[in-house]
Amino acid sequence: MIKLKLITIISVATLLLSCGGDTPVTESTTPEVKAEEPVVSDDPMKNKGLGPISNIELADIDQAIVAEGLKIFTEKCTACHNVGKRFVGPDLTGVTTRRTPEWIMNMILNPENMVANDPIAKGLLGEYIAPMANQNLTEEEARKVLEYFRTL
Ligand code: HEC
Repeated sequence: MIKLKLITIISVATLLLSCGGDTPVTESTTPEVKAEEPVVSDDPMKNKGLGPISNIELADIDQAIVAEGLKIFTEKCTACHNVGKRFVGPDLTGVTTRRTPEWIMNMILNPENMVANDPIAKGLLGEYIAPMANQNLTEEEARKVLEYFRTL
């Protein structure tokens, strides 16, 4: 008797699931893709790049840090980068809207590996020919430059 009851419940449940529209069925059969997403991706806003930086939490823009970032950028980066136009390297206007913060910092800290193995950086090297130079910034300095980039 109990067995029969159980079978009835299961078949009713199955019936309900199969008639209840698409959502419950899809949800139960789709595996958890989110946790498995690769760090390196062709989608720029999912790609965190390759290097020491795996996670950056951004708060409101801090103008004091922006000023320090601008100073570092002027000293170490303007040999190849302009803001507002292409130079030896890409125009960095709006770079934080097309790349993740982690990718940007990894590009600054680990450019050799990035242009060799990251799909986006590889593509840029193909376009700009000259390789992005490692300016030996510390993580803290790279973070300041990132803060400055957020204002561009
Ligand atoms: C020797 C020239 C050179 C110097 C110096 C240089 N870069 Fe680059 N940068 C490039 C080139 C060229 C690229 C495009 C990728 C490539 O060809 O390697 C690039 C790419 C980038 C990108 C990616 C831009 C995009 O559109 O995705 C960022 C961010 C960047 N550089 C930041 C910096 C920062 C910050 C500094 C200073 C610490 C710096 N670069 C110093 C040449 C340079």
